[in-house]
Amino acid sequence: MSGNRPNASGRAWPAGWHVEHVAETTSTNNDLVSAAEHGAADRSVLVADYQTAGRGRLDRRWDTPRASNLLVSILFRDAGEHPWLMSQRVGLAAIGAARDIAGVEAGLKWPNDLLVGEQKLAGILAQRAADGSVVVGIGLNVRWAPDGAAMLGDDHDPLEVLASMLQHLDALPDDVTELYRRSLVTLGKRVSVETPRQTITGTATGVDDDGRLIVLDACGLSHHLDVGDVIHLR
Ligand code: BTN
Repeated sequence: MSGNRPNASGRAWPAGWHVEHVAETTSTNNDLVSAAEHGAADRSVLVADYQTAGRGRLDRRWDTPRASNLLVSILFRDAGEHPWLMSQRVGLAAIGAARDIAGVEAGLKWPNDLLVGEQKLAGILAQRAADGSVVVGIGLNVRWAPDGAAMLGDDHDPLEVLASMLQHLDALPDDVTELYRRSLVTLGKRVSVETPRQTITGTATGVDDDGRLIVLDACGLSHHLDVGDVIHLR
């Protein structure tokens, strides 16, 4: 559904996005990866009220109560060589939506967690489909959050947040490098990064051209990390 026409639930989506809203699925990411491989259109969007097998980064689960939060995946067909660029765009658009809809100011923890203060508001999971397209899924806490996490608040509707997020995606410039770096609250902080092989502690000094976090350790070594869990130490 696109072109600012109302869909079955009466909601108008920004033009050019093909939004499907389902009550329940296993994982919107899994569904959209499979749809991509069967020819789904660029900018297909699948949003669910509930996931029975929602997936987080590093093989974790992403579980939320029914109809409480935004659970959505977006298909980008022209993502090029760098799927992480699409995740950055979705993260930035979600920051804009949180601000517009709820007046909540969020920042990004590398690579793409939305934080309010140090509390997680949203997480992003990107996957490449076999045909080269990229699916970016985001789970954003709207009316419910696990202990210690942030949410937008009871008054807000996940679909309203999605509509705003799609508008923000449309409004982003082609090159979001600077916007991303400015939103990345990790930069300048002392961090501990748990990678699959080791834990690196040091100062986050930048993000390289491949989207990797640069961490300078106490011996003066710069580590360029492409995966890992970041803890902000101060
Ligand atoms: C994280 O671990 O922080 C990433 C969480 C990503 C969750 C979203 S919810 C919509 C989409 N479908 C999934 O199965 N996962 C992503």
